Amino acid sequence: MPRRRLFVTTALPYANGSFHIGHIMEYIQADIWVRFQRMQGHEVHFVGADDAHGAPIMLKAEAEGITPRELVARIGAERPRYLQGFHISFDNWHSTDSPENVELSQDIYRKLKAAGLIYAKPVEQFYDPVKGMFLADRYIKGQCPNCGAADQYGDACENCSTVYAATALRNPYSVLSGAEPVLKSSEHHFFRLSDPACKRFLNEWLDKPGRLQSQVVNKAKEWLEGAGDKALSDWDISRDPPYFGIRIPDLKEEKYLYVWLDAPIGYLASFKNYCAKNQLDFEAFLQDPGTEQIHFIGKDIIYFHTLFWPAMLKFAGRPYKLPDHVYVHGFITVSGDKMSKSRGTGISPLRYLDIGMNPEWLRYYIAAKLNANVEDLDFNPDDFLARVNSDLVGKYVNIASRAAGFIARQFGGMLYEFTPANMNTQHSWGVAVASGDLIAEAYENREFGKVVREVMRLADIANQRFDQAKPWDLVKDPGKREVLHQTCSDAIHAFFVLTVYLAPILPATAARVARGLFGIERSLVFADRETRPTRIRPFKHLITRVEEKQIDALFDVASVPQPLAPQRHAEKQQHQTKERSVTETITIDDFAKLDLRVAKIVRAEAVEGADKLLKLTLDLGGATHTVFAGIKPAYGPEQLEGRLAVLVANLAPLKMKFGVSEGMVLAASGDGPGIFLISADAGAQPGMRVK
Ligand code: MSP
Ligand code: ZN
Repeated sequence: MPRRRLFVTTALPYANGSFHIGHIMEYIQADIWVRFQRMQGHEVHFVGADDAHGAPIMLKAEAEGITPRELVARIGAERPRYLQGFHISFDNWHSTDSPENVELSQDIYRKLKAAGLIYAKPVEQFYDPVKGMFLADRYIKGQCPNCGAADQYGDACENCSTVYAATALRNPYSVLSGAEPVLKSSEHHFFRLSDPACKRFLNEWLDKPGRLQSQVVNKAKEWLEGAGDKALSDWDISRDPPYFGIRIPDLKEEKYLYVWLDAPIGYLASFKNYCAKNQLDFEAFLQDPGTEQIHFIGKDIIYFHTLFWPAMLKFAGRPYKLPDHVYVHGFITVSGDKMSKSRGTGISPLRYLDIGMNPEWLRYYIAAKLNANVEDLDFNPDDFLARVNSDLVGKYVNIASRAAGFIARQFGGMLYEFTPANMNTQHSWGVAVASGDLIAEAYENREFGKVVREVMRLADIANQRFDQAKPWDLVKDPGKREVLHQTCSDAIHAFFVLTVYLAPILPATAARVARGLFGIERSLVFADRETRPTRIRPFKHLITRVEEKQIDALFDVASVPQPLAPQRHAEKQQHQTKERSVTETITIDDFAKLDLRVAKIVRAEAVEGADKLLKLTLDLGGATHTVFAGIKPAYGPEQLEGRLAVLVANLAPLKMKFGVSEGMVLAASGDGPGIFLISADAGAQPGMRVK
């Protein structure tokens, strides 16, 4: 097999928040694939980076009173804990806010300009006169021009689903300052995506068999071939200051590249940074016709990776190379709940690690549920428990824990030496070895569920043969010593092969088995599957079972805002709703993360279609927050208006069916009925901090 040269990336996460389970799932998928390629002896360079630029990061930093760079540095500092924690083996982690990315982005921009694919034209856009900045649609709200619903975003109405331009909103206001936006013109730079040469190229690139999943090609073609108002338009790649991004070069005016232009270039920036550290020639590597460039991404960013990105690379020309594959995965849900970008899901990856759950359980579970399609994947707590305990531990680990004792006690750790002449028993090892090609092909095609199913089938065979031979009886009969030796050695040999097969998924366990049980000091390679170890060392416990209480702790509701917590499926209630009388101790710093404010309820309204919710308009002494609170069973709107409440003001906004809830008001409740709003004593002023 010729040695492949692989340059592999995962999508660059926005640097304004911690990793959530969706990111970890993507990294686990890519990491399994990459580890398999390394085990095949290929040359692999696996890189990631933070996506640092853009308005949301700039505004979040501003809200925290720090610079965007400080925010990005803080988030960047957290990354290694997650990556090491889940055994994600990136060769390099970098940032789009780096000298390499400035250089490469400006270079690509200049080359596209020289190719005649960039032009400028004035664009009229909403501008916030108080904040002094142009407003993207998500920073504008107003009344829906179609149904009149209040507080709708600048692109579409959540009430009636009408899509419109921000300028069509009635009574628009800036989400940032509350000011009425004004129309203002500014020169924007566009990438000529609609150019016939560009479309021709993209069609060709998309059509190459085996390059992309068919679902992805179909999606991309829909956009590419859209007609009328769905026609592919040119891409606005510039932003006016203030903007946290990369300057557009060779312009007198201060303009920045739109974050989605420099973000994928960040793949190359991270790789270039890595090349410099490892004496690799960046340009030569890209221009080597044998190099394969592969991106793992989620289904929400197909557009950028199958249209803009290849077009940019193609028309920028040398030394850039086109992606060979863009592998798209679906989204992870938790017990059927979609996660919101801002709130994540019920599973916090850090909490998972902090409460001591084994990262390889999650890797195994995700692998077992992954295939090569763009399908969502559900994390189901009961299913997780069952697969880890019954399959991973109950089948795979079980083989070794049963057979190793006999080998150690009866045969001093020496394994039976099978030769063609004495191979007359039924061999689990041979059956396992024979599945190697099927497993390799499944790994290559990202059919990890198939890998796991096949390995479990082989484990079943090994366990059954072991049972049928009844070693516990054989050991009592001195005349059956050789059969006993063969039976147990065959099981251990098969266990070794299965360990090789599972190594990309369970790298830590595989390394422990290789070193601890078989005395192999180097990393396992896929070809090891055809060898048989000759002796074992004393067996140590490998993987423990998941305990129900760990799952409870993972989903502990104490950290989820109750009135706003999404309804979980009934059968999962046991995992979610256990209240704890004593919760974990926190430090004063933990507490200080809460921005609790006195808020005056200026308006309270019923919400159509929601029995329990009241929509509260809260005054914080200037700023206004809208909150949907689950207190309608206890309070009528008229009882609330004018009262002071306590608001968690820095809770990530939650998009609900009825609008966005910007925080939550505190209320007490117990086992019995009743919800009791917490308020401040007379004299407190809206906006005061509660601490
Ligand atoms: N910054 C952009 C990507 C730029 S790539 C040049 C971005 N960042 S993100 O943080 O929102 O998402 C990063 C990756 O996580 C994307 O591939 C996205 O699809 C993936 N996921 C986000 N939520 C996810 C799930 N719930 N499940 C699986 N993957 C998910 O987009
Ligand atoms: Zn509407």
